[in-house]
Amino acid sequence: MRKPVMAGNWKMYKTPAETTAFFEKFRPLVAASGHCEIVIAPPFTNLAAAVAAVQGTAIHIGAQNIAWAKEGAFTGEISGPMIAAAGATHAIVGHSERRQYFGETDETVLKRTQAALEYGLTPIVCVGERLDDRESGKTEAVLVSQFQKGIAGLTAQQFAKIVIAYEPVWAIGTGKTATPEIAADAHRAIRAEVREKYGKEAADSIRILYGGSVKPDNARVLMAQPEIDGVLVGGAALDPVGFASIVNF
Ligand code: 13P
Repeated sequence: MRKPVMAGNWKMYKTPAETTAFFEKFRPLVAASGHCEIVIAPPFTNLAAAVAAVQGTAIHIGAQNIAWAKEGAFTGEISGPMIAAAGATHAIVGHSERRQYFGETDETVLKRTQAALEYGLTPIVCVGERLDDRESGKTEAVLVSQFQKGIAGLTAQQFAKIVIAYEPVWAIGTGKTATPEIAADAHRAIRAEVREKYGKEAADSIRILYGGSVKPDNARVLMAQPEIDGVLVGGAALDPVGFASIVNF
């Protein structure tokens, strides 16, 4: 059995004070949510407030990106040791917005994933096709290519520690959720690649999350797909009541 991961990516929203206020409402609503792992990834500037707010709970805090180096002259980057020292346990890597606006490539995704693992953080590695890829029938080819050029560079031991998030770019922030069937097809394609590269056991245990316009009213049908092992939620993770209802689908 794969334990679901219900993750929220806050993107560039909320101040530390808003972070504290979110968790005051959110904590009691998920106090009995032992069926899943909960991860929230606020902006870097809110990591300390978020970690303080979840003390004594099972809620995990993650970063939205991670540098590939330990330290050095990398203006604007935040490293694994810094994230870990702030008390976070996870890091999102290769989100489509990083790929689209900040030059993230499969190669840098691999380096950042390796850095997260080296510093004891769980990477949530994002893959997903764009609308033109899907419309030209290239969805599977794109997912396979992102896998092969990116995380297929991990050792089997490293791979066993990651989480994958399938986020079709056309479904992010658009209100267009992939149907559960479309998502499950993509998850199967990714899992088949995992099986080929790392074997059956790795394929059976890797958790593949779905992300893209997940809302309280569609979380249940998505989670009903055996292929979908959790969700990575953007907009709807900003509201404590709404995100709690997704967590408790
Ligand atoms: P939305 O849930 O706002 O579509 O964002 C999804 C996402 O990008 C999560 O990482």
